[in-house]
Amino acid sequence: MRGFASFETVYLGFPIWGETTPPVIRSFLKAHDWSGKTLQPFITHGGYGPGNSMAILRSHAPGARIEEPFVLEADQERRTLNQVKEWLGK
Ligand SMILES: Cc1cc2nc3c(=O)[nH]c(=O)nc-3n(C[C@H](O)[C@H](O)[C@H](O)COP(=O)(O)O)c2cc1C
Repeated sequence: MRGFASFETVYLGFPIWGETTPPVIRSFLKAHDWSGKTLQPFITHGGYGPGNSMAILRSHAPGARIEEPFVLEADQERRTLNQVKEWLGK
């Protein structure tokens, strides 16, 4: 298996939790040396956007060249809230 050091570009996908980057992703970023690497994020969220996750990537992966993220709304959280509100409103 190739070690982390041998990769030039890393595609990193994660969901937004609590308006930010999940703890496991922070741990992964902190565990590696990012200098000279390109980091290509792809992010899903539940309807409230990527929050401060890009700032977290910058602070946890010093030395990385961080590309514009691909950001995709996965509608489940907003849909859940709307359904519960509708139910409570009845
Ligand atoms: C613990 C938790 C916290 C979440 N917090 C947010 C949030 O702050 N904003 C948001 O838009 N979506 C939030 N979501 C929704 C997830 O971002 C969404 O379900 C996820 O991106 C979909 O990808 P998945 O199918 O890989 O989980 C949260 C989900 C979980 C489980």
